[in-house]
Amino acid sequence: MTASTPAPGEATTERVRGIFSGIAGRYDTFNMLASMGIDRGWRRQLVKACALRADSRVLDLCAGTGDVALAIAAQAQPESVVVTDFTPEMLAIAEQKAQKYSGATALTFAHADAQELPFADASFDVVTVAFGVRNLPHRDRNFAEVLRVLKPGGRYVILEFSRPTFGPWRGAYHIYLRSVIPALGGMLTGDREGFVYLNDSIRRFPTQPQLAAELREQGFSAISWKNLSGGIVALHTAVK
Ligand SMILES: C[S@@+](CC[C@H](N)C(=O)[O-])C[C@H]1O[C@@H](n2cnc3c(N)ncnc32)[C@H](O)[C@@H]1O
Repeated sequence: MTASTPAPGEATTERVRGIFSGIAGRYDTFNMLASMGIDRGWRRQLVKACALRADSRVLDLCAGTGDVALAIAAQAQPESVVVTDFTPEMLAIAEQKAQKYSGATALTFAHADAQELPFADASFDVVTVAFGVRNLPHRDRNFAEVLRVLKPGGRYVILEFSRPTFGPWRGAYHIYLRSVIPALGGMLTGDREGFVYLNDSIRRFPTQPQLAAELREQGFSAISWKNLSGGIVALHTAVK
């Protein structure tokens, strides 16, 4: 490995954007097959954790193909959701899918790096991110930016792969990650390496209490988390 080669599972802007621009067209199919449809239930739980009102203004980061933003709009109908991502190919699919939405929520789209947000201070009631913070080289910058754009009392809701709490379940899950995910991802997208990164990045990511501690250190309060599917993913909530 050279000095410029990222370590396995290490998120770099080039690596992450390269992976997602390449797999954008197959991302939704991969998600559905890899999680056997369970991801929809995880996103529903995320929407509940947002505790939205009709006048809430929401920012969705690392929005990808828009499933979180569309679930928020369909389930909770807040005033608006700003849908952001830094990979144009992913965001284009989100915009296309949103054309079918005809509810009360105003959906707008913007290219944005989650570590440097092009929004004014205190402009959102809720910020959401699903399966995004793991891909950020500088999580601390993201946390600082989210604190800046949230209104006082606003909440940050993070859905992310985590650490199953029951040992045998964790072992089985890690075998699945190591063998099934790269094979399935490689077959669907031709980018097996991208899915090896996915496996490695999940193994490197902080545990539930570690992520909570990072959020606390950064200045969030009232931090809590809920394990879903035995801790395969965790839903963290933090308040400004
Ligand atoms: C695994 S996908 C998650 C998409 C969506 N939130 C979901 O739940 O399906 C991760 C997304 O994060 C985006 N992303 C990664 N790093 C980013 C960054 N620094 N700023 C903005 N978006 C980023 C990628 O382009 C990709 O679309």
